[in-house]
Amino acid sequence: MARHIVASTSEIPPGGNKVVDVAGRDIVVFHVNGEFFALLNRCPHEGAPLEKAACVARLTSPEPGVYERSRVGEMLRCPWHGWEFDMRNGQSWFDPKRVRVRSYPVAVARGDELQKGPYVAETFPVHVEDSYVIVEV
Ligand code: FES
Repeated sequence: MARHIVASTSEIPPGGNKVVDVAGRDIVVFHVNGEFFALLNRCPHEGAPLEKAACVARLTSPEPGVYERSRVGEMLRCPWHGWEFDMRNGQSWFDPKRVRVRSYPVAVARGDELQKGPYVAETFPVHVEDSYVIVEV
C-alpha cells in the first residue's frame, strides 16, 4: 500500500472533511475529535456521497428509556436513506457483519518527516574565518 499526501492538516478543520482522488478512488477524509478518518466516498446502499453525511454520535440504550451518547461525531448518517456507519472502520451500525464502507489507514506526519522530492540541490559546507567566506567542495 503506497503512501499518498492528500492535504495539510489545516485544510480539514475539526468537524469538516475533504474529498480527494487517490489512485482513481474518490475518498473522503474526516477530521473528528483530533483524529482523521478516510473512507470511500460512496454509500454501499445506493451510492450517496458520504461527504454529505451527518457526523453524529453513537447512541445506545442499556435499558428501556435510558439513552447514552458516546463517540460524538464518529458515526456517519448517510444523507439519502439514513444508514449509519462507524467512521473508524466503515462498519454499518445495523448489519456490521455484511455491510461496510471501505476505510483506509490515515497517518499525520510533519513535513520534514516525509520523503524528500527527487530534485535535491547539492550543498557544501561553509565557514567564516576572519573576513573570508570559505566553501568546501
Ligand atoms: S444511499 Fe446511503 S443509505 Fe441509501
